[in-house]
Amino acid sequence: MKHLWDTHFLLLILLYLLGAVTSQVNPGVCRYPLGMSGGQIQDEDISASSQWSESTAARYGRLDFEEGDGAWCPEITVEPDSLKEFLQIDLRSLHFITLVGTQGRHAGGIGNEFAQMYKIKYSRDGRRWISWRNRQGKQVIEGNRNAYDIVLKDLEPPIIARFVRFMPVSDHSMNVCMRVELYGCEWLDGLVSYNAPAGEQMSLPAYSAHLNDSVYDGAIIHSMTEGLGQLTDGVCGLDDFTFSHVYNVWPGYDYVGWNNESFPSGYVEIMFEFDRTRNFTTMKVHCNNMFSRHVKAFRQVVCYFHSESDWEATPLTFSPVVDEKNPSARFVTVNLANHMASAIKCQFYFADAWMLFSEITFQSDTAMYNTTLAPPKTGLTPNTQPAEDPTHKVDDSNTRILIGCLVAIIFILVAIIVIILWRQVWQKMLEKASRRMLDDELTASLSIQSETFGYNHNQSSTNSEQESNSTYERIFPLGPDYQEPSRLICKLPEFAQSSEEPASTSTAASKSTTTTTVVQDGVPHYAEADIVNLQGVTGSNTYAIPALTMDLLSGKDVAVEEFPRKLLTFKEKLGEGQFGEVHLCEAEGMQEFMNKEFLFDIPEDQPVLVAVKMLRSDANKNARNDFLKEIKIMSRLKDPNIIRLLAVCIYSDPLCMITEYMENGDLNQFLSRHEPEGQLALLSNAPTVSFNNLCYMATQIASGMKYLSSLNFVHRDLATRNCLVGKNYTIKIADFGMSRNLYSGDYYRIQGRAVLPIRWMSWESILLGKFTTASDVWAFGVTLWEILNFCKEQPYSQLTDEQVIENTGEFFRDQKRQIYLPQPVLCPDSLYKIMLSCWRRNTKERPSFQEIHKALLEIQP
Ligand SMILES: *[C@@H]1O[C@H](CO)[C@@H](O)[C@H](O)[C@H]1NC(C)=O
Ligand SMILES: *[C@@H]1O[C@H](CO)[C@@H](O)[C@H](O)[C@H]1NC(C)=O
Ligand SMILES: *[C@@H]1O[C@H](CO)[C@@H](O)[C@H](O)[C@H]1NC(C)=O
Ligand SMILES: *[C@@H]1O[C@H](CO)[C@@H](O)[C@H](O)[C@H]1NC(C)=O
Repeated sequence: MKHLWDTHFLLLILLYLLGAVTSQVNPGVCRYPLGMSGGQIQDEDISASSQWSESTAARYGRLDFEEGDGAWCPEITVEPDSLKEFLQIDLRSLHFITLVGTQGRHAGGIGNEFAQMYKIKYSRDGRRWISWRNRQGKQVIEGNRNAYDIVLKDLEPPIIARFVRFMPVSDHSMNVCMRVELYGCEWLDGLVSYNAPAGEQMSLPAYSAHLNDSVYDGAIIHSMTEGLGQLTDGVCGLDDFTFSHVYNVWPGYDYVGWNNESFPSGYVEIMFEFDRTRNFTTMKVHCNNMFSRHVKAFRQVVCYFHSESDWEATPLTFSPVVDEKNPSARFVTVNLANHMASAIKCQFYFADAWMLFSEITFQSDTAMYNTTLAPPKTGLTPNTQPAEDPTHKVDDSNTRILIGCLVAIIFILVAIIVIILWRQVWQKMLEKASRRMLDDELTASLSIQSETFGYNHNQSSTNSEQESNSTYERIFPLGPDYQEPSRLICKLPEFAQSSEEPASTSTAASKSTTTTTVVQDGVPHYAEADIVNLQGVTGSNTYAIPALTMDLLSGKDVAVEEFPRKLLTFKEKLGEGQFGEVHLCEAEGMQEFMNKEFLFDIPEDQPVLVAVKMLRSDANKNARNDFLKEIKIMSRLKDPNIIRLLAVCIYSDPLCMITEYMENGDLNQFLSRHEPEGQLALLSNAPTVSFNNLCYMATQIASGMKYLSSLNFVHRDLATRNCLVGKNYTIKIADFGMSRNLYSGDYYRIQGRAVLPIRWMSWESILLGKFTTASDVWAFGVTLWEILNFCKEQPYSQLTDEQVIENTGEFFRDQKRQIYLPQPVLCPDSLYKIMLSCWRRNTKERPSFQEIHKALLEIQP
């Protein structure tokens, strides 16, 4: 008995799920995923304008897929006002598309690119492309806000197309990756276009009804040609045509209507074109019949059929019963009697002064639309399931409601589980991050990396939860840029298989394990941190000095004073960055403005050479805030081997910071001009530097770095080009590097995304984006090597940038295939041993700056 009942019940469900079909498309039901995530759309049908790499090709643009590098990414950044990039899907046949879903590149936590906005273009024939607009005429669709959530957008009006393009849009230059899905169903009508006289305007006592076809996608001059619009949007008009389902539109919106005065012939002719020759059974015309307003369904229709090459001689005539009693809108069904045609031309005769249509559908062959809900697809997370159209009336059957409720409950449960899991992961990340990161100032210095003078605070253990949370938030959402290190990982063939990572990765280290490493460490990738500033170029241009400035000046931390701008005399430009320039200037009367502790260095009553870093006056607010924070950080650094901030000009634009400048320029140029002591120098009469003085300079750098590391600052760009030389071989560490064209060859430029001094960077900085004091130690080793080579040669000069990155992979794999910088001719073994210790694979085995400093002092005779 029970068994029987069960079968019965199942059958019932099956009937509900599969049974119901109908002859016209219902946008509330036509919401099936069309096969990006499900795989029904083949790889070869997904194409794109360009791709960043093979691993971010168009075929990886499938929603919810994590293959390849996790999404489609175009080759170049998306610029404002350029709509060059697109991801194109060929659905192979016409589809009615009601919904689109987009997602960014998450790649298990290492991706952080997404499209904040996009446009859609579509085509039915692959030749004529139409820009989608919503019912208010807006083209831009709001996209994603993070790299992982799926954002679904209803297309109002829906699209009828075979080809669809997603075109990322941005108001500033940014990197974008997309994964997408289309939802809808096949367009069984096969209608490609209808051509009709333009709809007219009806004057009513109080207002007019606009009976034009407001979403027609063809040309409208006197008549409408080559498009589809309201007659095929799946929305049937209401009985009273002055109202509409659609929110916030004018009276008469749903209908296209004509007045008999404009048609002396007494009929309106509409021509329908189809994708192919079809066997037509019926045409259904949704007509308004509000005779109180002189609107009636048509009195008669005469249809001509075009098949093969000609119009059939005998038309089909049909006269519906004229209904004078019931004013409700209705479908009038015209039997097309199995005529074969690829085009149909119908003349609709007026029954009254007005004729208003809201939909025309065609039934051909035997295909029918489903009316039941799309069966839930397994494996989809709840938010990928297209939401049911709220205006769509679900059948009132109890069973269906029950099923619906059950499904909903399941989804809610799944959603809750997903959210809980997600939050746990997130919480962990936040905790790790908060432990490791950086107080308020760090945010600033992280984001000013591309600028000059940036110092970074390392993994401070003293900061509170609150601060790090804000740091975290600030860094992550603002930098939707590539994290190149993870890309670099992918480029290294065996990286994924390596099992010798002692510290963090497990034996089965795969790409995702690497990811975990990064996440566990909670250290932001350089891209997330560094490019924050490069992003914000479109911010508002408010010039008011923010409140921060005030506490900057009054605060105890800051012991710098405002310097009268007029006392600065420009000498030469030292460098130029994204947000400003660095000038060499002479400052008069600097002594009065300087902190007393400086005075030892500077002769009185003489103009002082200073470096003046200026923020462009059109820099945005973020850049300004970062600049002010940088001042704050700089003002705290007090060490004889670190360049000092002398004064600032922040009362008016452009904001300036005035720092020491050393008369001998940077160490790289200084050493290049000099020769080692010896025969050669004697012959060429070049100035020389003794080995002792080389050691002296290296010791000072180590001392300055010892100071920075004691404050947990990470420099990130230690190199001879960033050290300044004063009298008697004194050295002060600065950070001008990236702003100077002179050294652009030292930085690896990733397609305008970020510049990295890869030849100075540790393997973990390049591959994992980790910057620590230990990576500064690595860079120190390279700096030492430069010094002993008299900066005559770039590190790894025989290797290309790509080979340097390959070599980094060898450092990671540690199979004795990595290439170390060779021992310089001048370099005694003891010194080379220090260098080699700086380049140890395991960060913990590298010496501290204290140890280095001590060792250097011992080498110095
Ligand atoms: C239709 O009429 C409305 C109301 O006058 C107007 O705003 C809209 O631009 C018209 N649309 C077209 C496509 O002509
Ligand atoms: C059109 O379809 C009907 C019904 O399926 C069929 O009887 C008829 O033969 C078809 N006509 C042509 C020309 O194929
Ligand atoms: C339009 O329709 C109205 C109402 O049926 C009729 O009185 C009028 O003569 C018609 N005008 C034309 C030009 O047919
Ligand atoms: C009917 O439903 C199936 C899924 O059950 C879907 O794949 C198909 O596209 C639907 N067809 C139409 C015309 O809606």
